[in-house]
Amino acid sequence: MAKDNKKYDKLNIEKINLSLQAGMFNQRIIYEYIISSTNSLSKELACNGYPEGTVVIAEAQTAGRGRLGRAWESPSGKGIWMSFILRPDIMASEAPFITIITALSCAKALERVIGISPGIKWPNDIIYNKLKVCGILTELGLDSKMSKINFIVLGIGINVNIDVSDFPDELKDKAVSLKNIVGKKVNREAVIIEILNIFYDLYSAAVKSSFNNDFRKELIGEYTKYSITIGQAIKVMGADGEKEREAVGITNEGELIVINSHGVEERINSGEVSIRGINGYI
Ligand code: BTN
Repeated sequence: MAKDNKKYDKLNIEKINLSLQAGMFNQRIIYEYIISSTNSLSKELACNGYPEGTVVIAEAQTAGRGRLGRAWESPSGKGIWMSFILRPDIMASEAPFITIITALSCAKALERVIGISPGIKWPNDIIYNKLKVCGILTELGLDSKMSKINFIVLGIGINVNIDVSDFPDELKDKAVSLKNIVGKKVNREAVIIEILNIFYDLYSAAVKSSFNNDFRKELIGEYTKYSITIGQAIKVMGADGEKEREAVGITNEGELIVINSHGVEERINSGEVSIRGINGYI
C-alpha cells in the first residue's frame, strides 16, 4: 500500500467487513490509501482471475475516471471511491441492466442511511435537488468472441464529505456532497455497507432468477420510481450530434426508450450517449 501521511479519518475496513452479509463481498475488500483508479486496479485484478465479489476501495484516486472519458475528482478521505468485480453469466448487451441494479442500490442506500430522497438520472447518476452526488462507471471484459461477459467492473463514486468550495469551478453548479445536503459529516462506512448489502440482495435475486424477464421487469419498475429522466424532454448527445427526444421508459435490458419528433420510438444504449435536460444538466 502506498504511504499516506495526510491527516484525515481513514475508513475502518474491519468494521465494514463485520457488517457485510456473509457471501459475495465479505472479507474480499482490497483497501488502498492512494491509487490511480479503483476501476483500473479492479480490471487488472479481474484479468488476473480475481473472483466475483472482489471490492477495491481507495481513500484517494489520482486518475479517477467518469463516463465518456471524463475525469472524476477523488480527494483523500472525502468520498467513496470504490469498485467491484462481477462475473455474471449474461451477454454483453445485457450489461446495462447491471448498471441499473447498481444505481438502484446506491439510491436506496442513501435513502436509508441519510434519510434523503434521491433521484436517478438515467442511466446512473444519483441526483439530489438537481445536483449530482454519485456517479457509476461500468466497464466490461468480454470473451474472445466479444459477445459474452468475462467480467464487469462497477465503479461507484460518491461525494460524501467534500465541501462545495473544494469542487472545481466547472462542477460547483452541478455537484453536491452528502455533507452539503445534511449539514454535517457523513459516516462513509455506513454508506458503503448499505450499498454492498443492498446490491448483494438484488444481484443474488437476479442470478437466482437467471436474469429472467419477470425479475427484470420488477426491478426496472422499482428503478423507474426513482427516475428523474422518464417523462421528461431531453437532449441526447452522441457521436452524431445532439437530438431532442422525450424519455418514456426503460427496456428490460436497461436501455432508455425515447420518442422522436415524428412519434417514433427509439432505444438508447447508455454506452454511446450522454443526456441532458432541455434547459441544463438535469
Ligand atoms: C460518472 O458519473 O461519470 C461515473 C463516475 C464514476 C467514478 C468512480 S470513483 C470509483 C471508480 N474509479 C474510477 O476511476 N471511477 C469510478
